[in-house]
Amino acid sequence: MAESGRHPFLQGLSKHRGAPPTVVVIFGASGDLTARKLLPAVYNLSHDNLLPADFHLVGFGRKAMADAEFRALAEAAVKEFSRREPDPEVWARVAARTSYVAGGYDEPAAYQRLAAQLAELERELGRDLQRIFYVSTPPSVFAAIIEQLGACGLAAIHRDTPLHSKVIIEKPFGKDLASAVALNAAIRGVFAEQQVYRIDHYLGKETVQDLLVQRFANAIFEPLWNRNFIASVQITVAEEVGVGSRGGYYEQSGCLRDMLQNHTMQLLALTAMEPPGSLAPEAIRDEKVKVLNAIQPLAVGPGGEVARAQYAAGMVAGRPVPGYLQEEGIAPASATETYAALRLSINNWRWQGVPFYLRSGKRLARRVSEIAVNFRRPPGTLFAGETSRFDLAANTLAFQIQPDEGLSLILNTKIPGLETRTQPVKMSFRYATTFGSNTAEAYERLVLDAIIGDGTLFIRGDETEASWRLYTPVLESWRAAGREGMDTYPAGSWGPASADALLAGAQHRWRQP
Ligand code: BG6
Repeated sequence: MAESGRHPFLQGLSKHRGAPPTVVVIFGASGDLTARKLLPAVYNLSHDNLLPADFHLVGFGRKAMADAEFRALAEAAVKEFSRREPDPEVWARVAARTSYVAGGYDEPAAYQRLAAQLAELERELGRDLQRIFYVSTPPSVFAAIIEQLGACGLAAIHRDTPLHSKVIIEKPFGKDLASAVALNAAIRGVFAEQQVYRIDHYLGKETVQDLLVQRFANAIFEPLWNRNFIASVQITVAEEVGVGSRGGYYEQSGCLRDMLQNHTMQLLALTAMEPPGSLAPEAIRDEKVKVLNAIQPLAVGPGGEVARAQYAAGMVAGRPVPGYLQEEGIAPASATETYAALRLSINNWRWQGVPFYLRSGKRLARRVSEIAVNFRRPPGTLFAGETSRFDLAANTLAFQIQPDEGLSLILNTKIPGLETRTQPVKMSFRYATTFGSNTAEAYERLVLDAIIGDGTLFIRGDETEASWRLYTPVLESWRAAGREGMDTYPAGSWGPASADALLAGAQHRWRQP
């Protein structure tokens, strides 16, 4: 099959063979994300022989640590969080090329030490290394790190060779439009946009990438993918977990910033964008920005298009759990939402009049992320009335992002028998059944893509600003309102009544995923 017709992940696999010798420097080396996701991703890429032959890892953090101590910490993290049992031989290979630099994120001397260590590595190898700086720290030091990398010359395109230095930036990317614009400006002062890889780990999920394949590698969907055939789209990112030990972070964030502004908007952009001219990163990202910019500003307040709520005590997976206000690190009168739902309108030729319903929350009935495309109801004339056991159902195409990754289609079917009676049935495809279940994690894909220089699954600066432009007025109005208008929902339920009200006008209902 032609390269351009292959699944993007397979394209990535073949492209990695040209990956240049690389050093990845992780800022925030002893942090939670590094332990849970980044180190296991590096390990698994190495296990699958997907890393360049000359691959080095440098941890950078405030904590004073010897190389050996960092290696031990990294090994423990891989043992605890890797999707597969680590093979000691593979780990030894990674560990032998892992070192650590201690220093403050705004301390010029620390960056000099880092630069000296990288130069030393290159001397030993006798060749240049591509330098990837992975910023996985609290956001308060993002700008300082970027500035220091620039000041000590590490951000420069490397000695006129095609090898770039690159920066990968974790979320949260800003907390509103102004801070995102400022962060973009700080980054652009040091790095060119092609050097910047803004992470949204949802884009690394297999099923999210499959969305593009389903839409554009099948001829049956595109003709129906518009206002003439689609009645509404529902995007759900539901979590069973509560805020856990992340109260400090979450109080500053809330659900709209934590999930909707980034992950859910990316799902919406891929669902609603026009077909790109090619699979080139800029072609896809251009289309995503266009559709994000076509979303109408949201009406806030009574009768508006947004709902917010906090979980109250309830039952999750058969055990009692406390409400948000009783969780550790949460202000007793906190006005931070743990659930948000929206009704969006996209003002373009394809989607005008089709509501996009988005919702996300913690402590919901179960962990499930899905995109459900609801088609218009069939005319009931033929099968309505006495011969039909149910009203004819609308067809729904649902992409299940996680868990049980797959795709399902609801179709009306004749119930076997002498009468003509209909019943909606679900036709399902499950990834695990067809392809097995041990697929790569999102971070593996994303780290590899950054190494090979494919920015498709990363967020461009204008995308993040388009999203913040939509949400900042909502956040401002919520801040001004304090707890007024904050609904609650029992932990373990499907969310608050105010979210149902968003759909009621159009006689729509939230799907039970
Ligand atoms: C993160 C959020 O970006 O995504 C977390 O900060 C959330 O609050 C997590 O739990 C969900 O990711 P996933 O991959 O488990 O759906």
